[in-house]
Order: sequence, then structure tokens, then C-alpha cells
Amino acid sequence: MPEETWKSRVGFVAAAMGSAIGLGNIWMFPMRAGLYGGAAFLVPYLILLFLIGVVALTVEFTLGRTAGGPIEAYGKTLPGGKYLGIFVNAMMLMIFAFYSVVVGWALKYFVTALTGKLLSVDPGPFFGSISFSTEAVVWQFIAIAITIGVVIMGVQKGIERACKIMMPGLFVMLIILAIRSVTLPNSYAGLEFYLLPDWSKILSGKTWMIALSQMFFSLSCLGMSNVVYGSYIKKDQDIPLSAIVTAFGDTAVAVTAGFAIFPAVFAFGLEPTAGPGLVFVTLPVVFQKMPGGIIFAVIFFLLILFAAFSSTVAMLETNVQAATTHLNMSRKTATILFGLLAFVIGAPGAINPTYFDWIINISTVYLGPLGALIAALALIKLGIDKAYEELRKGALIEFPAIWKPWAKYVYPIVVIIVYVSQFILG
Ligand code: PFF
Repeated sequence: MPEETWKSRVGFVAAAMGSAIGLGNIWMFPMRAGLYGGAAFLVPYLILLFLIGVVALTVEFTLGRTAGGPIEAYGKTLPGGKYLGIFVNAMMLMIFAFYSVVVGWALKYFVTALTGKLLSVDPGPFFGSISFSTEAVVWQFIAIAITIGVVIMGVQKGIERACKIMMPGLFVMLIILAIRSVTLPNSYAGLEFYLLPDWSKILSGKTWMIALSQMFFSLSCLGMSNVVYGSYIKKDQDIPLSAIVTAFGDTAVAVTAGFAIFPAVFAFGLEPTAGPGLVFVTLPVVFQKMPGGIIFAVIFFLLILFAAFSSTVAMLETNVQAATTHLNMSRKTATILFGLLAFVIGAPGAINPTYFDWIINISTVYLGPLGALIAALALIKLGIDKAYEELRKGALIEFPAIWKPWAKYVYPIVVIIVYVSQFILG
């Protein structure tokens, strides 16, 4: 295996942002902001992003560039580390498996919007008939096949190139949708719902915990794919500025998604509902009522697909890196094999909602933050001075030396607090 690298700085940033920006931004963030204090939710989120989010990204990228993918990096630094590396790879496969089910739904909606039929269906029963059905399995398979198609072409020619096309496209589509949404008559109530700060909420510990776990998932900081992406960064390519751009770009997209969704929902007198219903039931009703709605429906579901595929390629690449490095497999074999494995694991989730919820809970809520913690511990064992030196190589901006105690103490302690709180707060 020739060693993989990113072709350019910009390409790496596009890939890192692509991995970060996903269903977590467009589907989860606006809903949680709406529930946990509106604009007031942004206060803990932005504070945590500054204090922890940017550091988390630098930790995982730096660890990857110094020590390689999760199996190598944890194997070199932690007792039983090789198995921890295998464990996080298994987690990544689970996340990919359930994520691809939702990408499958989005594909079905995109195609239905393209043919114009989305305007004539009854959104509630329509979603009921395709989610958790054998048809959902077929769409999930197509979602995985597309991901395989990109990853098989390699890091530079597949992932980097695809993200360099999808990211600018995503920004343009999101801005079009947000402008349309806030300029609809009667959209004001939606702005109020989304933005009116409920300051009482930011005093609650739960709001901070939700903000933190949301941030980890959104930045893909789970000790998995970002370590792999880090291992592809050349010594003369920048880490600090890339981490800052990724963190703030990801947040900007999440916040803007709320502007694209809530004003439109309220403009047509609808209620924002939690979970899949918001995007897959409520928004189709909005598109049916909106003049020229079908165009916006096509744009919206394409936006979701760009966000989702630039994330699924990071997930599959994580397993491919492990298999090509440790199982002596070719990229082609590894990509197809792990894509099919994700299909087999996820397919029951496409049919059975209980199993689907179970995979989501296990892999994101309980095991995700554990991955972030493992990465933090591995970096500490590697030696914080060595890590800081590595961080400065090729850097376009320099982090002050306070980065060292920050990465060594503040960051892991916060991760532990979040992790424990998941069990206490549920
Ligand atoms: N950050 C992605 C999102 O917000 O949807 C999810 C994700 C992508 C998690 C890649 C993990 C990963 F490796």
C-alpha cells in the first residue's frame, strides 16, 4: 500500500468539513436548539466550541499525523490499544450502518421530488410506508453503493475530489433555502421560536451536556475518522487553521439550517416536530404549500445528500484504512467488504425501528464519547510536548503553548464529565 495523503490543504479542509457537516447539522442541531433555549443554546455551544471543539479537532488530527490510524495510534500508546483501535472501528461500522438507513430515506425523497411526485403524496403515510420497510433496505443499499463508489477511487481522487465539489454546492444551496425561508410571509413566528433566547435553559446542566455531545458528534470527534483523516495530512500541511475553519464552518451550517427550516415551517402554520418527522414529514408539507415548492424540495434533499455522503465516505474510509493497513487487503476489496458488512448490520435497522433506535443509542450516545476519550488519552501518552511540536509543523497559524495543558487536562476532563452525564441524564 502506498501511503495515502491529501493532495492540498484546501482539499483536506473540504474533506474534514465534509465529514463534520452531516445529518447532525441539518437534522439534529436545529431541533435541539429549538428545544434547549433557542438563541440561548448558542451560548453554551459557542463557548464549548471555542474551549473544547477546536482542541478536540487538533488532538485527533495531530494524533493521526504522528501515530497513524486508530489501531496504530492506540496500539503504540495505550495498554491493549490495538484492541481499542479495533473497537472504535467496530463502532464506526455501526454508525455507518444506521446512518446509511437515513441516507437511503433521503435518496428516496430526492428521487420522488425530482419526478414531481412529492407534491401529491400524503407526507405522513408516505414516510410511514417507506421508512422501516423492505424498500428502505433497497435505498440503504444504494446509499452504501454510492459511498463505496467514492471511497474505492481513493483518498485524493475519490474523497478529496468529491468533497471539493459537494461542499461549495452545499453552501450555495443552504443559503438559497435560508433566504427563501426567512422571506416567506408570516415566517416571523419561526424566527421567534428559533431565536428568542430562553435564558433559564442555559442555567440547566442538561443543556450544556446536550450541547457538548451534539458538538462531538457534529465535529466527528469520536476518536475514529478524524484520526484517520489526520494520518493523511502531510508534514507541510496545516492543522491549527484547518481545525478552526472546520469547527466554525460546521457550526455556521448548523445554525443556518435552522434558518432554512423553522421560518418556513411556521409560515405555513405547522408545528416543528422532533426527530425524523421534521425533515421527512413536516418539510414535505411545507414544500407542497410553497409556490415553486418542488424546486426547493429538490434543492433541500440534494443538500441533505451532499451533507450525508461527505460524512459516510469518512466513516467507510476509517474501516478501509484499518483493513488495508492491517489485513493486507487492497483498497478495492476492503471498500466492498466493509460496505457490504455495514449493509448487513444496518439492513435490519432499515426494517425494524426498535433495532434502529438501539444501534443509534449504543453507537452515538454511549460509545461515541468513549472514542473521543481514547484519542485524548493516546495523545497524552504520546507526550504532550511531542504533540505540540507536531501541531506546529506546516501550521499557518500558531496556537499558544497553553494548548498543552488544555489538551492534557481540560479537554479529557470535560470528555469524562460528558460521558458520565450521558448515563445520569439519559
Ligand atoms: N459529523 C457527522 C454529522 O454531524 O452528521 C456525523 C459523523 C461523520 C460522525 C463521520 C462520525 C464520522 F466519522
